[in-house]
Amino acid sequence: QQKQDMQGLKVLVTAGGTRERIDPVRYLTNDSSGKMGYALAEAAAQRGAHVTLVSGNTSLNPPPNVKVISVESALQMYDKVMELLPEQDAVIKAAAVADYRPAVSADKKIKKTKDHMTIELVRNPDILAEIGTRKTSKQVIVGFAAETNDVETNAMDKLRRKNADLIVANDVSKEGAGFGVDTNIVSFIRPDQPPRRLPQMRKRDVAEAILDEIVTIRTSKSGM
Ligand code: C5P
Repeated sequence: QQKQDMQGLKVLVTAGGTRERIDPVRYLTNDSSGKMGYALAEAAAQRGAHVTLVSGNTSLNPPPNVKVISVESALQMYDKVMELLPEQDAVIKAAAVADYRPAVSADKKIKKTKDHMTIELVRNPDILAEIGTRKTSKQVIVGFAAETNDVETNAMDKLRRKNADLIVANDVSKEGAGFGVDTNIVSFIRPDQPPRRLPQMRKRDVAEAILDEIVTIRTSKSGM
């Protein structure tokens, strides 16, 4: 029997990788499978939350009782998330947002006429950082940090820079963690708290642990 400790809470989850268009048939993307975000959305809905999943590209089926909004690019994800942010109790940013996009995206397929070609890239907005500047004192904001070295130091830095309440840090160079696989090895990084290291777990169980942490943070915020 699933606990019902998120009854009535509004939770926004982002998941999957974004696609940054070069032309109508080509794009830049990354290896994100969307598994962690989809597991979070499914688990939160089962615990009673009203869940909206803003999803980039994945090959996963939509979880039951979750409102799925599909987007393609980082800019589209940014617009959707900003539109939905004010009504949320918690936001979990599990998406792998592309850091850069092509400066121009051609409206016709680019022909192979040149021996060399250069694609100029420009920075995408940091969605999580923008949420951090807009969040209310009661909203719980969770980000992810996929690192290959100095995981906890980098995650602590990210927590401060993006004004998040929780960063879920994982070492993507470890076997059984990160992109594509069904398990993850994470640490929870919170302001003014020592890192909490979790053992290797299935992504579904990691999702439940993240939701437990969100419920705890929310309780501590409403007690203030
Ligand atoms: O800075 P970095 O990309 O490592 O931070 C990862 C966290 O920031 C993730 O939660 C990711 O969803 C979020 N992010 C974002 N917008 C970006 C880049 C990352 O929301 N443009």
